Amino acid sequence: MKAVVLVGGLGTRLRPLTCNTPKPMIPLVNQPFIERMIENLRDQGITEVILAVQYLADRFRDALGDGSRLGVKVHIIEEPEPRGTAGAVKNVEHMLDDTTFVFNGDVLTDLDLQAMLAYHRARGSKLTIALTPVEDPTAFGLVETLADGRISRFLEKPRPEDVTTNMINAGTYILEPEVFKYVPPGQFYMFERGLFPVMLQTSDPMFGYPSHAYWTDVGKPQAYIEVHHDILIGKVKYPFKGKQLGDRIWAEGEVQIHPSAQLVGPLVLGHGVTIGADAKLIGPTVVGPHCTISAEASIEGAVLWDGNDIGPGAVLRSCVVGRNNRIGPKTHLLDGTIVGDDCTIGGENRLERGVRIWPGTELKDQAISF
Ligand code: GDD
Ligand code: MG
Repeated sequence: MKAVVLVGGLGTRLRPLTCNTPKPMIPLVNQPFIERMIENLRDQGITEVILAVQYLADRFRDALGDGSRLGVKVHIIEEPEPRGTAGAVKNVEHMLDDTTFVFNGDVLTDLDLQAMLAYHRARGSKLTIALTPVEDPTAFGLVETLADGRISRFLEKPRPEDVTTNMINAGTYILEPEVFKYVPPGQFYMFERGLFPVMLQTSDPMFGYPSHAYWTDVGKPQAYIEVHHDILIGKVKYPFKGKQLGDRIWAEGEVQIHPSAQLVGPLVLGHGVTIGADAKLIGPTVVGPHCTISAEASIEGAVLWDGNDIGPGAVLRSCVVGRNNRIGPKTHLLDGTIVGDDCTIGGENRLERGVRIWPGTELKDQAISF
């Protein structure tokens, strides 16, 4: 069975993490998100994945090749210009021959795809949309259904006064290729504001598939940290790579841990991580490959990508640190702080409350201090 994954978005909300790395390539527990997604599709019976990309196609090709390493056939198709969600699939329509899955490329879910497919087939649906409940539907596509599951209303990014249900479009669709007769070729066209409303006017059966599976759109910084916490505490089915060193502590290769360091899981340590004397690592935390955590540094609830050097006595809490950064002695990165790549943050700085540091920034000692 084939799947199209939409990965064309720019990921602006996740900047500075997406300044150098396309959103689907940012790591989730040390593995590019899209790679994990493809493995999940493979494990659920999908044999061929078409990635609809808009830019940086070579980055995807370098990372995924033809998919043989992952055990699926991968095609990377670049759009001539942004075609919108439905237009992107229309652009690869010639590659589709049968019932097809379509995925938004920024959603982490453990939805049971075969159960959804059985639901789609049992109802003779032409297009089935996975639905998930959320607290605030205004950032999503609201979907109303009738008692039999048929979709009766679709409203993208509703105003607060238009919210009539907490069920939203979860970004997973099953469709029959014939529905693309409604999508104009060579144009920007969206499922959400184009095809879905059109199919409400036609008599084509379109169903919602409600589910309580784990679901998050990882496209926002806070969600990116939370999703790591959810994975590490086991809220979502997610296989860890690497070997278990202790209670909920995994290492993905060789690591060096000073005997006086204190480690409290859940923790994932990448290959080549070094942890100094009296350092404290408290989960849920992910430390990327080749990071050095110096003596007496303290890290809690943080996500570090690869190659970071964390100075002695630094304190990192609920923050994200991109690639190859130098964090000076006794510097504090707190509460949603995001550091891009290749930054040098001098000693005794204090960054907090969602501060975002762009790639390549250099901060002197005590530039932003207590
Ligand atoms: N190839 C391609 N071309 N992909 C695109 C394009 C495009 O022109 N535009 C968006 N995408 C991809 C994005 O990369 C992302 O993976 C997916 O389509 C959805 O786009 P987002 O920009 O993340 O949309 P959203 O999160 O605001 O809303 C969408 O997802 C929600 C669930 O997370 C909508 O589908 C909502 O209805 C839905 O509730
Ligand atoms: Mg999104």
